[in-house]
Amino acid sequence: MIDGFGRRIEYLRVSVTDKCNLRCVYCMPEEGLSWLRKEQLLTYEEIVKVITTMAPLGLRRVRITGGEPLVRRDLPELVHMIAAVPGIEDLSLSTNGVLLEEHGEALREAGVNRVNISLDSLRPDRVDVLSRRPGSAQRIMAGIDRAERVGFEPIKVNVVLMRGRNDDEIADFADLTRERPWHIRFIELMPTGSNLHLSRDSFIPCAEALDRLREIGELEPVPGPWGNGPATYYRFPGAPGTVGVITPMSHNYCERCNRMRLTADGQLRPCLFGHLQTNLRDPLRRGEDLRPLIADTLRTKPERHLLVQGSDVGSGGLIALSQTGG
Ligand code: 5AD
Ligand code: SF4
Repeated sequence: MIDGFGRRIEYLRVSVTDKCNLRCVYCMPEEGLSWLRKEQLLTYEEIVKVITTMAPLGLRRVRITGGEPLVRRDLPELVHMIAAVPGIEDLSLSTNGVLLEEHGEALREAGVNRVNISLDSLRPDRVDVLSRRPGSAQRIMAGIDRAERVGFEPIKVNVVLMRGRNDDEIADFADLTRERPWHIRFIELMPTGSNLHLSRDSFIPCAEALDRLREIGELEPVPGPWGNGPATYYRFPGAPGTVGVITPMSHNYCERCNRMRLTADGQLRPCLFGHLQTNLRDPLRRGEDLRPLIADTLRTKPERHLLVQGSDVGSGGLIALSQTGG
């Protein structure tokens, strides 16, 4: 799959639910969103059908996302089915970690190779505030612990930077990489419909995080752990882990884009942001060939996202990243 700008697309992010057991301040409103109904969701068989159609076209890597993917029932079953698709070499998962202690082992056995875990603070009281779900910090830490023990590798931790909320922990997060083989990735806050105030007031460019890290240690650029991502990585001398930055706002990396997204209701999205999406679900249910639709989506993949700091202009009406799988 090559798009109109010559980019090779071999990675699909598959959202399995728009629901979540947390309410992160930069993502969902406290009261949640209006959830998709069950019949709107792709079944596991339908998800696998899409992946099976794309694999011979060049799909190699799949990441399961949400909402929070672990709130969908029997997720290991889906993992097992995807892992069996010929051509799929890498299967990963993005999770908030809350249910990972419970399901980590089954997911590993079913075929997940590695996980990304979201954790925006190392202080339990703050995690509770930022996720608006008291008690989540303890469960997330237990989830990370389980992830390490069952052998997910590498372990990447995503930290969304927010001024006045967690920016005083940049060094603490980075210090962890001197002790543990974790890859801590600081992410710039992206504006969506539900977080405009926050993204206007609390945005921090990753360059600032790097400046602060250079004050506490020497940072050498490194290739980073195995993966598909847009992060740029650094290492403190001798550290087992790395520090990465993901800069959707300050440094656009769209020219390296290698992915498309499948929403929980079966829309194939060529870009995280913007209005473009192709309904695969209804044609799939009518038994139609998906390949022309996939080719069309690939052809219309935009050159870059058009997000503007502090505005939802380029987001294409997106209320929260949980709607598309982040
Ligand atoms: N800006 C930046 N990152 C976000 N995430 C969710 N919403 C946003 C946003 N508006 C992050 C989550 C998770 C990853 C998939 O995306 O914290 O780590
Ligand atoms: Fe849930 Fe992830 Fe959104 Fe937080 S960022 S509310 S964990 S979907």
